[in-house]
Amino acid sequence: MIPDAVKIVEVGPRDGLQNEAQAISVADKLTLIRLLAEAGLQNIEAGSFVNPKWVPQMASSEEVFAGLPKDGRCYSALTPNVKGLERALAAGASEVAIFGAASEGFSQKNINCSIAESLQRFDGVMSMARDAGVPVRGYVSCVIACPYDGSTAPEKVLEVSQQLLDMGCYEISLGDTTGVGTPASVNRLLDSLLLQIPASKLAVHFHDTYGQAIANIYAALQRGIATVDSAVAGLGGCPYAKGASGNVASEDLVYLLNGLGIAHGVDLQKLIAAGEFISARLGRPSQSKVARAMPTENDE
Ligand code: HMG
Ligand code: MG
Repeated sequence: MIPDAVKIVEVGPRDGLQNEAQAISVADKLTLIRLLAEAGLQNIEAGSFVNPKWVPQMASSEEVFAGLPKDGRCYSALTPNVKGLERALAAGASEVAIFGAASEGFSQKNINCSIAESLQRFDGVMSMARDAGVPVRGYVSCVIACPYDGSTAPEKVLEVSQQLLDMGCYEISLGDTTGVGTPASVNRLLDSLLLQIPASKLAVHFHDTYGQAIANIYAALQRGIATVDSAVAGLGGCPYAKGASGNVASEDLVYLLNGLGIAHGVDLQKLIAAGEFISARLGRPSQSKVARAMPTENDE
């Protein structure tokens, strides 16, 4: 049941950096993305086309996309509405993602509308993306719990996920936005989802606030899920999920997959070097336990 190969979606340049208060130059963002690509990552979420007033760090996404190589990799972006999609298409994004939630409280805070309103908004995004021939991923946030509404019923996650798939999303990324899940709650969620949705249409996106992300990924792998989101150096957080820490570190994910003998196509040493680059720029140590335990050859 455990997959032979896993697709890693590197969300560091977007989820990882969106919450950073300090200015990060376009050149540094592009260097990070280049190092991630050189490490072998094929799917890199490079930015988001949201209202720059709410997420200033992503305001440079146009410039970031303009500086990306046309190297056949998938460089994707978040697009909350038609305006976001127009910006993403003009910038040349190879794939986009709409992002909804399984809880009303988070939907309101994050994208300023109810779940039902968000689905209506996404309709317009989907038809424009279809015309443009751009694949759309769907995120569902707060799949375990919501910082405003408490625990989330798996049935609600199923309902929203199914609606996004019916609209034409090729995959749903299940976001444990606050990182409160454990293998028990993740398995309860997957018990419900996998009755209706094949594992091949699901990805997992675990924040590591409570240190459970690697255990949760292992639980998801055992259920046949073969797409995992992660952020180099364990960067990340959402401005609308206060207290939530970074995503699972890509280095820790790769180490897990290596140990399990699962193919992924990423060079761990080069990935650690990418994490060292951005951690140095941010002026703080990497959140990756593996990176701390396995310094690169350049280190003393
Ligand atoms: P709104 O205020 O409802 O939008 O925002 P509006 O349509 O009423 O427009 C208001 C203003 O925003 C207007 O400007 C629009 O032009 C502008 P004004 O006339 O006032 O000058 N605007 C935009 N500008 C640029 N690009 C756009 C855009 N849309 C409107 N695309 C909106 C709705 C969703 C846009 C807003 O609430 C927003 O940008 N929110 C930010 C959400 C966000 O980025 N959150 C973090 C990412 S999600 C996440 O991290 C979770 C995830 O990782 C999974 C997980 O961990 O669970 C994916
Ligand atoms: Mg996230």
